[in-house]
Amino acid sequence: MFLRASGITVAGLALSAALPSFAGEVEVLHWWTSGGEARSVSELKKTMLQKGDTWKDYAIAGGGGDNAMTALKTRVVSGKAPTAAQIKGPQIQEWGKEGTLANINAVAEAGNWDKVLPPVVADIMKYKGNYVAVPVNIHRVNWLWINPEALKRAGATVPVTMDDFFAAADKLKAAGIQPLAHGGQPWQDATLFESIALGVGGADFYRKAFAQLDPVALAGPTMVRVFEAMQRVKGYIDKGAAGRDWNLATAMVINGKAGMQFTGDWAKGEFTAANKQPGKDYLCVAAPGTGGSFTYNIDSLAMFVQKDKAAQTSQAHLAEAVMSPAFQEAFSLSKGSIPARVDVPMTKFDDCARKSAADLQTSLKANALLPSFAHKMAMSSAAEGAVTDVISQFMNSNMTPQKAAERIAKAARTK
Ligand code: GAL
Repeated sequence: MFLRASGITVAGLALSAALPSFAGEVEVLHWWTSGGEARSVSELKKTMLQKGDTWKDYAIAGGGGDNAMTALKTRVVSGKAPTAAQIKGPQIQEWGKEGTLANINAVAEAGNWDKVLPPVVADIMKYKGNYVAVPVNIHRVNWLWINPEALKRAGATVPVTMDDFFAAADKLKAAGIQPLAHGGQPWQDATLFESIALGVGGADFYRKAFAQLDPVALAGPTMVRVFEAMQRVKGYIDKGAAGRDWNLATAMVINGKAGMQFTGDWAKGEFTAANKQPGKDYLCVAAPGTGGSFTYNIDSLAMFVQKDKAAQTSQAHLAEAVMSPAFQEAFSLSKGSIPARVDVPMTKFDDCARKSAADLQTSLKANALLPSFAHKMAMSSAAEGAVTDVISQFMNSNMTPQKAAERIAKAARTK
């Protein structure tokens, strides 16, 4: 069972956007604790303070959010749910089933959310047709971040295909530069893996394996080739990677210690916080072999049922604030993502964000818009945890690609 919901009230408390506006407290659970992420959260805090509410930060460090999800379960079970928590993808349905989430249709209707959100986003925010969560932004996961100076020193070129990638990595290695910046944490291993899987197997394979959990795709020869590629990729990661946080890996690219990093565009928040310019100090390119595809990771705040009126009012303020065009713009400008709303102009955004917005549209038309499973967008929490375990065991042992494919197929069946 996802959560033992002893003593938790049921969902269905409708929030009214028209409630009188008086100050209350909002407590928001999130895992945005790196330099770039913390700057982005301060935008939310600022917006709430402007509305007259008080902000209680409930930050649980740990990229990818596994620690935060564990803390949240303990909190909710003990009857002290926060106002909202960073919960994503299918996990919103899991919490909805537990009866813990608040119905925020009144705010959504007043703000025309159905019109301003793409259906792929709106659907994830609803439980049984009712809005229970607010989208904060859209991150793209299948990026490769490059230090152009390091590439130049090594005489390497920007990789477009997986073969190009291995050629560039070899040149960096020969020049004494660490080819790949990585952090050996399970969610980072899974983030790297899903981009390699997309690059090796393509969009249809990715969808079958990780969104549809097709046993044939999961255990078949393409998956074996994906793990073979991962085995090669492992050779470009330094020994110090064990346990390294993602932002420290990004720092290696920022300061030229490493040439490249596979990760989502939250990395751009770190480059931005370090005053680095895209196209000059760093490059953002689609992960090798994944040019026409887009793996999405939509950050969202799910709203928990609140008993008293003041708490409900502040919660409505929070939902309104997160969806406001001004906040959507400001948050993504510092976070590295793009707004979830379709009507926020991209004029203030840099080339990486514009590329993300354009590629999202192209991939949608080409049926290559895909949920990131490493970022909790594709599978149940149980399946995602089991699949991630196999990947990280593969990264930390001599498991053969054949064995890894067998094991990942089994793990994906975890209920
Ligand atoms: C993701 C989250 C991003 C970013 C990243 C690293 O799961 O969606 O917003 O925070 O983790 O912490």
